[in-house]
Amino acid sequence: MTVKQKRVFSGIQPSGMLHIGNYLGAIQQWVAGQGEKVNFICIVDLHAITVPQEPAALRRQTRELAALLIAAGIDPQQTTLFVQSHVRAHAEGCWVLNCVTPLGWLERMTQYKLKAQKQESVLTGLLDYPILQAADILLYDTDEVPVGEDQKQHVELTRDIAQRFNGLYGETFVVPKPVIRESGARVMALNDPTAKMSKSDFSRGHAIRINDSPDEIRWALKRAVTDAIGSIGFSDEPARAGVNNLLQIYELFTGQSRAAIEAHFVGKGYGALKGDVTEVVVEALRPIRERYEQLNADPDELDRILAIGAAQARAVAEPKIREVMAKVGFVLPTA
Ligand code: TYM
Repeated sequence: MTVKQKRVFSGIQPSGMLHIGNYLGAIQQWVAGQGEKVNFICIVDLHAITVPQEPAALRRQTRELAALLIAAGIDPQQTTLFVQSHVRAHAEGCWVLNCVTPLGWLERMTQYKLKAQKQESVLTGLLDYPILQAADILLYDTDEVPVGEDQKQHVELTRDIAQRFNGLYGETFVVPKPVIRESGARVMALNDPTAKMSKSDFSRGHAIRINDSPDEIRWALKRAVTDAIGSIGFSDEPARAGVNNLLQIYELFTGQSRAAIEAHFVGKGYGALKGDVTEVVVEALRPIRERYEQLNADPDELDRILAIGAAQARAVAEPKIREVMAKVGFVLPTA
């Protein structure tokens, strides 16, 4: 008997330089599943414009993100890597799903509330954001959505939308599940371990960006907020969030067990912890940064890879959107 390979879909916004939270929470999982699962990774430019973007910067960041994902281990031979706006079915699917989703489901989304607070004028697209995300996921008959903790609510909403559509129009969508790691699900800001590391916070020392220089990484980790307790161990205590965050970063970059890590740090101080984390992060990011520089210097090659990805994605998403349109009663175009 052949076992059906699991379908994996995830997305990432081209809205600023990636940080180690994106890498440890999401990208590392995507890379680990390659080969074993059928992977679709989408650069979500339609999502990015739900808050104002400068067009030239968006274009540059879209290619930079493609380069970074490949440099970080996404292999276009094994993963369908593509840009969301290259596959029209995403926008079309969003529209149809808009028309089965009650407004109240969107108004209670935590990310919407947080992002809306930061905007002078809130765009309609920002409220609609999670429905576009649902369309992304559902078009590919996705089984698993590997994401960081902050996306859990969106994937749960996607499940609700899929079930509602299936209830109204008959079995159409696979109901996906979020896949969230225990460590790395929520990498915290180095300068404030009560807040999530975020792409949109540009204060120095907040994050480690994937292409930061070793000196910049050293600077940020040296100043990382810890506590006055002094011992080094994994902990869920809010007071220990800074130390716990550093230990999780160490854990995910080395692949060592928690017991081995705690044993390694017995009797050592925070200076040693920060020094060891720095060494591990600098060495892990070095090859990614070098490969990124090479890839980013060849935009034609990146565009070629993205064109292949878009064709592969369309081959899955287009028949699905036709099925959806037929189910809701549209006359399908014959050409
Ligand atoms: P985005 O671009 O904000 O983030 C990409 C991925 O990185 C994870 N992440 C983190 N993980 C751990 N710690 C952090 N500090 C941290 N910050 C970010 C996110 O959880 C995410 O997995 N809405 C999505 C993009 C999206 C999507 C999709 C995801 C669009 N369509 C379909 C999955 C499926 C987002 O804004 O991700």
